[in-house]
Amino acid sequence: MTSMPELAIQAQQIRKNFGKVVALDGVNLSVPVGQIFGLLGPNGAGKTTMIRVLTTVLRADSGTATVMGRSVSHEAPSVRGLIGLAGQYAALDPNLTGRENLRLVGSLTQISGRVAAQRSDELLERFSLSDAGNRLVRTYSGGMRRRLDLAAALVHRPPVIFLDEPTTGLDPESRVELWAVIKELVADGATILLTTQYMEEADRLADQLAVIDHGAVIAEGTPTELKRRLGSSVIELGFADDATATRAAELLAGTSTEEPHVTGRGVQIKSNEGTKLLTRLLRTLDQGGIEPETLTVHEPSLDDVFLSLTGKPTEDSAPPVEAAGKRGRGAR
Ligand SMILES: Nc1ncnc2c1ncn2[C@@H]1O[C@H](COP(=O)(O)OP(=O)(O)OP(=O)(O)O)[C@@H](O)[C@H]1O
Ligand SMILES: [Mg+2]
Repeated sequence: MTSMPELAIQAQQIRKNFGKVVALDGVNLSVPVGQIFGLLGPNGAGKTTMIRVLTTVLRADSGTATVMGRSVSHEAPSVRGLIGLAGQYAALDPNLTGRENLRLVGSLTQISGRVAAQRSDELLERFSLSDAGNRLVRTYSGGMRRRLDLAAALVHRPPVIFLDEPTTGLDPESRVELWAVIKELVADGATILLTTQYMEEADRLADQLAVIDHGAVIAEGTPTELKRRLGSSVIELGFADDATATRAAELLAGTSTEEPHVTGRGVQIKSNEGTKLLTRLLRTLDQGGIEPETLTVHEPSLDDVFLSLTGKPTEDSAPPVEAAGKRGRGAR
């Protein structure tokens, strides 16, 4: 008898090239059963490629990976029965209704038509799509498509769920709703691997995070662990223009153990010495004849972690959920 695997997902040294592009350069991942695991990284880092390998859509050039103990390359059909995938690009038939899409997905798995029909109705209800269930998907809004796509990934009640940017393009309210659904799924025993470009989302949802860049894991840990590595506080200075910010960063290089990061008119510096460093920074700037226009000191956020690790600011910061309502991003 085989014992229950403790790891829902395990990947070792996964490599994948597309021609000359190294998309995955030896990725290792371990996701325990019951966790929400967040995969972060800038555009082109390899997140979607990794998900495609783990969901048997794409074959890796080398390396091994298992889902619930089954090999994604040698036991692909069995892995497919254990997983749900909601992709970065929704895989729905626009010329079917929402209900038809869910039933179609059901018919592709091993559940009976009756069960598929019943679950489709339940899922439409759960994702607030009951009223739209009989409408063609091409009449759906971006947010409705996202929800239906996630619902489609759940019809066969998979124990392991892959979500590639599940909330990209959603307005803040819909995002919060989807977070609640994701937490429910995990409370019901599922394991979730998700990618996101919203650090707030990663911070709120993920038990464990891996940051990948250029196809390799460059940091791993809980959100708290990753933030702690940055020290006790982050100092942000804003200047009149980009040139002044660059000049300020040059002046400040060396005042702290960490190099300042410039983004536009802003300069960010991490500090382990709290206000002591602040005094030194301001004195240095004053001596150089530069005056900052804004100054904030805050605890490190995951956005700071991302910037520090990848050298890039997060793609576009999510509209804050507190300001729920207006500013939905267009679907990509
Ligand atoms: N089918 C493909 N053919 C050629 N190159 C590809 C293919 N799929 C991905 N790539 C390349 O592999 C690298 C990793 O892409 P991937 O889509 O995995 O990144 P990502 O981290 O998901 O990015 P994003 O945040 O933009 O979704 C990129 O350089 C990309 O251009
Ligand atoms: Mg992607």
